[in-house]
Amino acid sequence: MANDVHESLTAVPAESPSSNADPATAGDRPHDPRHHVTLENLHTERRSFPPLASFAAHSNATAFEYKKAEADRLEYWKEAARRLAWKQEFTEILDWSDAPVARWFGDGILNACDNAVDRHVREGRGDRVAFHFVGEPGDTQTLTYADMHERVQRAANGLLSLGVGKGDRVAIYLPQIPEAVVAMLACARIGAIHSVVFGGFSAASLRQRIDDAQARLVITADGGNRRGSHLALKPLVDEALAPSIAHPGFAASVEHVLVVKRTGQPTEWTEGRDLWWHDVVDTQPAEHEPEWVDAEHPLFILYTSGTTGAPKGLWHSTGGYLTGAALTHRIVFDLKPDTDVYWCSADVGWITGHTYIVYGPMINGATQVLYEGTPDTPHQGRWWEIVQEYGVTIFYTAPTAIRTFMKWGEAIPDGFDLSSLRLLGSVGEPINPEAWMWYRRVIGGDRCPIVDTWWQTETGSIMISPLPGVTATKPGSAMTAMPGIAAEVVDDEGRPVRAGDGGYLVITEPWPSMLRGIWGDRARFARTYWNRFDGMYFAGDGAKKDVDGDLWLLGRVDDVMNVSGHRLTTTEIEHALVAHPWVAEAAVVGATDAITGQAVVAFVIVRGDAEGVPEDGEAIADALRAHVRKEIGPLAKPRDILVVSEVPKTRSGKIMRRLLRDVAENREVGDVTTLADSSVMDAIKDGLASGR
Ligand code: WTA
Repeated sequence: MANDVHESLTAVPAESPSSNADPATAGDRPHDPRHHVTLENLHTERRSFPPLASFAAHSNATAFEYKKAEADRLEYWKEAARRLAWKQEFTEILDWSDAPVARWFGDGILNACDNAVDRHVREGRGDRVAFHFVGEPGDTQTLTYADMHERVQRAANGLLSLGVGKGDRVAIYLPQIPEAVVAMLACARIGAIHSVVFGGFSAASLRQRIDDAQARLVITADGGNRRGSHLALKPLVDEALAPSIAHPGFAASVEHVLVVKRTGQPTEWTEGRDLWWHDVVDTQPAEHEPEWVDAEHPLFILYTSGTTGAPKGLWHSTGGYLTGAALTHRIVFDLKPDTDVYWCSADVGWITGHTYIVYGPMINGATQVLYEGTPDTPHQGRWWEIVQEYGVTIFYTAPTAIRTFMKWGEAIPDGFDLSSLRLLGSVGEPINPEAWMWYRRVIGGDRCPIVDTWWQTETGSIMISPLPGVTATKPGSAMTAMPGIAAEVVDDEGRPVRAGDGGYLVITEPWPSMLRGIWGDRARFARTYWNRFDGMYFAGDGAKKDVDGDLWLLGRVDDVMNVSGHRLTTTEIEHALVAHPWVAEAAVVGATDAITGQAVVAFVIVRGDAEGVPEDGEAIADALRAHVRKEIGPLAKPRDILVVSEVPKTRSGKIMRRLLRDVAENREVGDVTTLADSSVMDAIKDGLASGR
């Protein structure tokens, strides 16, 4: 039963309008989630878990929070923003006259690093541990807020010594080590704009991001530790910065590469360009006055898959973003900074790491665990061993990780003392009720509230979530919009659906941590998010409002796939595949996968005139998988690559992914009447049956 619910929750429908058009931008309609999701299945989920009185008695959040926000939304946000440290207090709250670009707290002046670090030292909290760092090989570091203060000041001076200053872009391509946090905060400290690129991205992806942002500096490491070996990073930076015939001038903006020595592996060196972090940073004075910036000064750019091929550089402001990050972290995770040990397992290369490792928790003075490695190195109990060792009280992870632990078996977590835990969070994709219940029982000992938090890189901070101590939770539902957030589920015409119905998730009022745009492309920002429903932010997700008015997220309704909580687009992988000399055409779909939520499945047509193509379909698949890995990164590698003679298209030439998804998920193929050639599906199935 629970599995059925999972299927329906994660079934991401979609029939792409075309292989390279953005449904939101091309004016085509997004796919109607109601046509693809068996909403009835959700009615089978009736369990509800009210907060324990003992938790509610001390929770940071109270029901009054919603009342305050309802009574006066702007006043609510003003109060939240006032909790930050401002160099100059703001008098304006919201200026929406230039919609969809908002200005929040526009005349205020502050600095993000001052809020995350200096303030704690200034107010006598310098001795509090900021990070318990755990390296994968077992090395550890304990860093207090005073230690972080010293490090960010040296790093800020180091960046300045390289000529990087306010408004300059800095690409950060590092493993999950303290220097990643220090580098981000040092950029913020001098008013430079960081663009963190997840270490799992390829040289080509890094190059594209460096180029789009015109970064002056790249901060990287020789390598990181992953699954017991050294994963090299610096060679990928070298490759990204190498002159290319295909893209002359690419990445020419980069003046220096600052390299952290992490693994000690041998590294090629470009004299004059490459510099060691320890040479540049450790020699600097530990005094630096933060660069005070306007609330709307860009804090960072973070690239995410767009529905068209090129990734979008989403950028966030300083004052509004920090307000959302700090408030949501305090009330959703119920942080008690003196006693809690908080651990968010995300990588700092994703928005979750930005908002819920670096900015939100540090502004709130949290003590955190920062772990470099994978959950199964050197054994499958590594995470639970860390929880036990550091007495972690608040734990935030993704459904794909939870499902992996379910597969490994509960005997593994049962072997550790997890009694310190008092609150659990989930993010990244819809959590199926079965995984939710397992998380609650096996990890949370049936006592920890679970917060299923829905949000996006675009939203900056959590938008829909239960409030612990206040909300009675339902397994699989993210429940209700946060105080101050106006979320709605609407139909095709943008009208709110009735309770019990499904539709598209939209946000109807601006909020402080909303993205301010797509770097360098205001028009794309407006048409991607604001065109579909007049004056509303369209998130790209389907949702259902149940009879109580609570929200159930149903997955993406566009061409975005969600693989292990990572966003990928069908088109970016198709582009990578057709760039290979053997491939004439490619169609990619996201198929439901028990562990990763969705998995990439590619259908490829091999060129008749290509040379050296192996006979064997598996050999072709292996070569193409390696090619995608190189082009985009390991996270985009297709699970299955199927060689076919044709892909199904409508009469107007659009690939019908819905039918391919049926094949990929071993289902009866749906309605083929709109196909230009209805025999195509038979040919695909026959070919697969004989050739697989
Ligand atoms: C999905 C990650 C259901 C959703 C913070 C969204 C979720 C996309 C949830 C954003 C959740 C994230 N329930 N779906 N609790 N959290 N999503 O930008 O499809 O990496 O649009 O941000 O992840 O992914 P992003």
